[in-house]
Amino acid sequence: MGKIILTGDRPTGKLHLGHFVGSLRRRVELQNSGEFDKIFIMIADAQALTDNADNPEKIRQNIIEVALDYLSCGLDPEKSTLFIQSQVPELCELAFYYMNLVTVSRLERNPTVKSEILMRGFSTDDSEGDPTQRGKGIPVGFYTYPISQASDITAFKATTVPAGEDQEPMIEQTREIVHKFNSIYGETLVTPEIMLPDNASCMRLPGTDGKAKMSKSLGNCIYLSDTADEVRKKVMTMYTDPNHLRVEDPGKVEGNAVFTYLDAFSRPEHFERYMPDYASLDELKAHYRRGGLGDVKVKKLLIAVLNEILDPIRERRRCFEQNIGDVYAMLERGSETARAAAAETLNEVRRAMRINYFEDKDLIRSQTEMYKAK
Ligand code: TRP
Repeated sequence: MGKIILTGDRPTGKLHLGHFVGSLRRRVELQNSGEFDKIFIMIADAQALTDNADNPEKIRQNIIEVALDYLSCGLDPEKSTLFIQSQVPELCELAFYYMNLVTVSRLERNPTVKSEILMRGFSTDDSEGDPTQRGKGIPVGFYTYPISQASDITAFKATTVPAGEDQEPMIEQTREIVHKFNSIYGETLVTPEIMLPDNASCMRLPGTDGKAKMSKSLGNCIYLSDTADEVRKKVMTMYTDPNHLRVEDPGKVEGNAVFTYLDAFSRPEHFERYMPDYASLDELKAHYRRGGLGDVKVKKLLIAVLNEILDPIRERRRCFEQNIGDVYAMLERGSETARAAAAETLNEVRRAMRINYFEDKDLIRSQTEMYKAK
């Protein structure tokens, strides 16, 4: 059996550097490694709608943004199937059957859903008290999205799901569903494995304000579609070491976002090009720790490094931006390919569950005989 990748993103905004180090960069490498028989990259609009029912326009507008970000980073529709989740209705049918294999209390224990409920200010009790003060209740669709995600993964018989550690509970829940399904209905579904980012500094990029995570709502993101000038301005205001006031002062590298970004992005050749006085990032860090190295100098290096990485991405983006119709046509073809793959799995699922009545000649024959004998 070949190796198959399925992964994706919710189209709630443009993709940023956090996505790039956490997933996009890796996906392009995996795509070009030739190690995988099939790669499916999904724009998870249906999942995004589970907590954006009141704002479908936001999702609608961001589908093209995510597609442009994918293409400009080097995902290639010739090698990877790029598709839109809602255009593969087979996924809904699978999810509906999987719902019978998961208990409410199991869903309640999913730590990612738990923390997302808190983050979104959903209230678990919307039945009492002053209705004007009542929190927004949890939509059932949102609550059950881990089950829908299990159908995303299993529909394509994915063996490998490249994703961040926040997705671990989702993959775990998918594996449980697969085991349950296979033990009740017979070996049908493939058990997937998560593929976590490989390098510790790639796990999570902090925001430009030093907060744990880049997030659109915090306004601390550098987007892949930012111009060179926007990147320069954002880096110049970045959080460093608040106690490093004068250049002579010793500075801290840990928790200093500028150095965290250099950890994630800089390579030895960047030093040759932009900072020949230092052989490596370690030397630069040592000088910063000792004192005598100013933030501006380090930030200028980071600006050069980021723009060097982003320039080819910007160039490809500009080209795809001139052909929006072609991008949608590519997504339509991808969605058709994805749909055919999901339909095949769904047929196997229906057969395994024995709900394939019309093709089940045994069922019809045995009931014919039973009624004849009556
Ligand atoms: N939950 C993922 C996210 O929020 C998006 C997603 C939907 C996904 N279905 C998936 C990721 C299947 C991996 C596999 O980013």
